[in-house]
Amino acid sequence: MRTLSSVVGTQHELHERFGGVVPEIACRAHIEAILPVTHQALDEAGVSPGDLSAVAVTTTPGLIGSLLIGVTAAKALSWSLGLPLLAVNHLHAHIYCVWLDGRSPPLPAVSLVVSGGHTSLFLTEGPLAHAYLGGTVDDAAGEAFDKVANILKLGYPGGPAIEEAARTGNPRAVDFPRSWLGAAAADFSFSGVKTAVLYHCLGQNASKEDIENASYSPQFVADVAASFQEAVVDVLVKKTCDTAERHHVGSIIVGGGVAANARLRERLAAEARSRGLELYLAPKRLCTDNAAMTAGIGCHLLAEGRQAPLSVEAAP
Ligand code: KG4
Ligand code: ZN
Repeated sequence: MRTLSSVVGTQHELHERFGGVVPEIACRAHIEAILPVTHQALDEAGVSPGDLSAVAVTTTPGLIGSLLIGVTAAKALSWSLGLPLLAVNHLHAHIYCVWLDGRSPPLPAVSLVVSGGHTSLFLTEGPLAHAYLGGTVDDAAGEAFDKVANILKLGYPGGPAIEEAARTGNPRAVDFPRSWLGAAAADFSFSGVKTAVLYHCLGQNASKEDIENASYSPQFVADVAASFQEAVVDVLVKKTCDTAERHHVGSIIVGGGVAANARLRERLAAEARSRGLELYLAPKRLCTDNAAMTAGIGCHLLAEGRQAPLSVEAAP
């Protein structure tokens, strides 16, 4: 399989001053971006609509307003060009980045998708076959990164900013809580550690204005960022490896925006090695949302004849 083009229309600057994605703004920005991005993808690939053999689109999960724009545009393309429509699960697409990178993990494997909207574990039996094992009961890991970056005034998206700030910080400076939710649970919780960061920075009664007006020394920010990152990474690494052992699988697949985090990648590699597990990390360039992973799943759906009806609906 070869990727001819993969255009990403970011809208970070629209959400930055809110410290996170605002669904209504995201939806409007999708309306404005969908046609220019589609044209650009065709141009960069050097193909015309008549050369296409199918249209793949993310139908679930995600922000409903944004999903609806993609699904509506894909239906229009599919109908007008007489092409099969393929409905892609976004979390499966994040896992697929390992295959897209040309690797074939031994199966079954335990897969972790760690992104802005999800922190989920699956038992993976194939590129299209994933059984849900558990996920976050509150904030996703990426969401916690974004919210903590907001508290520390590091900008949006928070993940890369926290990673950068943490480089000069001490990961043991603050002992932030780790939520284990019971030894055998494949679920996650990250709202406690986010609140603990807020209390550590501003006490228990901080208002929105206090957060906006706060100022911290660079070393304080670096130490809090490093200690927060370590707390999140500890939980992601241990739970993923424990879940793999509990299900007697020999390999782990990891994808999603937070999987770009260098500390998480390094700690996963070390822990997998020490437990004798094979680690398949999505390449950094494919961790955050991209079109190629959606098209990749689409190829498998097409090969299996799993076309979606035009009545397929977007689901959050
Ligand atoms: O997968 P993704 O692009 O979008 C969703 O499907 O949600 O993930 C975006 C999330 C954001 O929360 C962002 O802060 C986080 O991934 N992220 C990171 C890093 N790069 C992106 N988190 C930690 N470290 C990073 N280097
Ligand atoms: Zn994503």
